[in-house]
Amino acid sequence: MKCIGIESSAHTMGVGVVDGRRVLSNERSTYKPRYSGIHPRKAADFLSREFEPVLKKAVGKSGLELEDIELVSFTMGPGLGACLKVGLIGAKMLAQMLDVPILGVNHALAHIEIARTLNECKNPLVVYVSGGNTQIIVLEKDRYRVMGETLDIGLGNLIDSVGRSMGLKHAHGSVIEEIAKKGRYIPLPYSVKGMDLVFTGLLTEAQSKLENHRREDVCYSLQETAFSMLVEATERALALTKRKEMVLCGGVAQNRRLQVMLRVMAKPHGCKLFVTEGQFNADNGAMIALTANLMYEAGVRMKLSECKAVQKMRVDEVEVKW
Ligand code: FE2
Repeated sequence: MKCIGIESSAHTMGVGVVDGRRVLSNERSTYKPRYSGIHPRKAADFLSREFEPVLKKAVGKSGLELEDIELVSFTMGPGLGACLKVGLIGAKMLAQMLDVPILGVNHALAHIEIARTLNECKNPLVVYVSGGNTQIIVLEKDRYRVMGETLDIGLGNLIDSVGRSMGLKHAHGSVIEEIAKKGRYIPLPYSVKGMDLVFTGLLTEAQSKLENHRREDVCYSLQETAFSMLVEATERALALTKRKEMVLCGGVAQNRRLQVMLRVMAKPHGCKLFVTEGQFNADNGAMIALTANLMYEAGVRMKLSECKAVQKMRVDEVEVKW
């Protein structure tokens, strides 16, 4: 089906158009606060302003007319309430205007499904790493099961928080990754509980090390420590599940150092690592549209009255029928 997907769970207004499993367009505009984290109301104002131009661009680049769209989808959760509502209202309006069905999609599920589909992986072990999430996931029967996860903050937030403490204007992981290339190792707290992870002790110590250590060394050690923790927990999950494919997805998946570390760990297990293009790892509308298509084909339907914004929504709450 020709499906449009609207993503607005946090700082990105994303609109994507897909036809079946083929991505026709994937446009986005991202709110970048200069010196702070995301302020929900300011982010929601930004998303409201960006909805129409991003929608126009996405439809224009898809080569379709708005009237060709057969299914409308949006991010139902998890996310910031005020931001989710922007996409929800936009999607409801579009679905009514076009008189087509509507589906709300779990954001984490969409990250997984686009990575899994575009890489043509059957049943991989999934490592999902973004600002607010860090989870090791596996599909079992009709549900994604979270085998391990962060017990406090997400890997992306950990890295961004250190970036902000360094006074970086846009505390992007890619900037930290670049600075880290010239660093040397200094010991930092390492905390793995079975297959779960704890990052706040590492964050506090990395921030305090900034006072009397080179920032290159702090960035390098932060990455090495946090990624080693994740790799250790992932290897445990891999040894248990014996999967031969592994998918790395979410905003932090673009980090080359993390990719190398996971790949080195997976090789002796006969497991291959798959990572999609950056535009599909960042928050985007195409992943929502593609997942909605999988859901619709499997018979999932949603009434307009069932469409809502759900701030807390885990990936293991969704029944996977496809
Ligand atoms: Fe995301």
